[in-house]
Amino acid sequence: MCGIIGILGKHEVSPQILDGLKRLEYRGYDSAGIATVNRGQLDLRRAVGKLINLSDALVHAPLPGRVGIGHTRWATHGGPSVANAHPHRAGRVAVVHNGIIENFRALRDELTTEGAQFSSETDTETIVHLASQYLEQGVSPIEAARSTLKRLEGAFALAFLFEGEEDLIICARRGSPLCIGHGTGEMYLGSDAIALADLTDRITYLEEGDWAVLTHDGAQIFDAEDRQTNRAMTRINLDTARVDKSGHKHFMAKEMAEQPGVLQAAMGCYAGPGSTGITLPPELDFSATDRLIMVACGTAHYACQVAKYWFEKYAGLAVELDIASEFRYRDPVLGPSNMALFVSQSGETADTLAALRHVKPHVAQVVSVINVPTSSIARESDVALPIHAGPEIGVASTKAFTAQLQVLALLALQAGLQRGVLDARDFAAHLEDLRTVPGYVAQALDREEDIRRLSELLSRARDVLFLGRGVMFPLALEGALKLKEISYIHAEAYAAGELKHGPIALVDKDLPVIVFAPFDGLFEKTVSNMQEVMARQGKVLLISDAQGLAHAGDVPYQLQMPSVPAFIAPIVYAVPAQLIAYHTALHRGTDVDQPRNLAKSVTVE
Ligand code: M6R
Repeated sequence: MCGIIGILGKHEVSPQILDGLKRLEYRGYDSAGIATVNRGQLDLRRAVGKLINLSDALVHAPLPGRVGIGHTRWATHGGPSVANAHPHRAGRVAVVHNGIIENFRALRDELTTEGAQFSSETDTETIVHLASQYLEQGVSPIEAARSTLKRLEGAFALAFLFEGEEDLIICARRGSPLCIGHGTGEMYLGSDAIALADLTDRITYLEEGDWAVLTHDGAQIFDAEDRQTNRAMTRINLDTARVDKSGHKHFMAKEMAEQPGVLQAAMGCYAGPGSTGITLPPELDFSATDRLIMVACGTAHYACQVAKYWFEKYAGLAVELDIASEFRYRDPVLGPSNMALFVSQSGETADTLAALRHVKPHVAQVVSVINVPTSSIARESDVALPIHAGPEIGVASTKAFTAQLQVLALLALQAGLQRGVLDARDFAAHLEDLRTVPGYVAQALDREEDIRRLSELLSRARDVLFLGRGVMFPLALEGALKLKEISYIHAEAYAAGELKHGPIALVDKDLPVIVFAPFDGLFEKTVSNMQEVMARQGKVLLISDAQGLAHAGDVPYQLQMPSVPAFIAPIVYAVPAQLIAYHTALHRGTDVDQPRNLAKSVTVE
């Protein structure tokens, strides 16, 4: 949430910062800004809305300089406005910031009493006033930044730029990710390596509590106790860090289309063609685990909800599941035989990370399923399992969801084998089922034109209801979430059997009801609930396979999926959930990749 970039360059940096911000825009797009120092003078440009507005502002009023910082904002304190946009400036210092300064009210009161004049509603502005006050006392910029950092509480990443200093950026990481890029006679910093992909492949990830002094020649890194420290430099694969739409209209369209390849790649990494077992770190042992605690947010949480069925069915393992923001603030009973499993695409979701830190001292092992192997969640886990989906830029999570399901399915099978619940034959049969997923997902994607037509009807609805039973219930939840976040249509999901306990009162002739029901052991029961909706004139869209559609009889709207083994059905049925949301959003003309109010990586609690 919020993207940060900084460059100490050999040439004008504004154009490069703007390019970096384009790659970071998925982190927030309420406003954006850049500050540079040129001939000793600190100056800045800021604009509300998408980056194109900042780009236009820079055409009219260029910002020269060989050192600068930039920011894309996802508003927390104070709405989107030029005054609230970053960088913020007071006196000789400018700052860009991601995260929340929790003690900003106390600091603001103190600074106001001492004469500081605030011009924004943000928590960030306290940082520049603090630093400026230290500078006024005659200390060096490095000392001013160090003293300022000591006064801040909360989780954040930030960067300071100082008037008169053309060879200096100071940055700090506490709770929010930040990395340093190494060039030749140039240095960079970014919220993630993607921001720096066009500049360098040599990256140093700052550790929790680190702060760093960057000059054109290099970086001096200090830990939370201000001891100078070394952090490893790694070479990243630029191909996996580069992001483009590859001819698709949206990142979401590209990422949905990539799913067969992504799932094949994930499978190849854990159970390549011909292998009879699953290759996982040897320390990952479910045999002595008495309870699996799964924690995540949003779409990743729905992946966990599907996986709960798998761990219970195939591994006989008791599963406790919660959303991270709730889990942390209750008093979960944790024990030394528990394993905790965290799922996150970004690996930086603040709620999930906080939940991980909360359980770590109390459980046997902390495992994560992540897409970004260098992320905080990955680094703080005992075992981190990548889903190999590549960068996911569209705010609506698609390929990460199906890849999370694929890896979780592999884990459930491994757990089943280790715990003696699955015998070798059943294990092998289910593993073979998983190998067929990419092909079936490709077939599901082929139904796009049917879905596009059906979505026209949905695009005119005020509300949409999604129903499913068993593993299809989390799919219904995921379908409703996708529709809400990119089409802005109110959608709800219910376990089909729960409908009659209240929500059926909502059903009338104007309510589209989408039912996920493959022809499995729960099919007849789901279809009975569907009939109850149709008897009340609800407009049902049944998503099933050929057998299911034949058995269901006369249903107003139908979508045929390939017939697939029950085990893998949730992965395949994710595709219509995604495509329905995508095409409904297109019919409504909303911004699919950057829906209002949202950001991709949610690094505030
Ligand atoms: O990066 P994470 O997987 O931890 O993100 C969790 C949620 O914020 C994320 O899944 C969100 O719900 C998506 N926008 C849904 O499409």
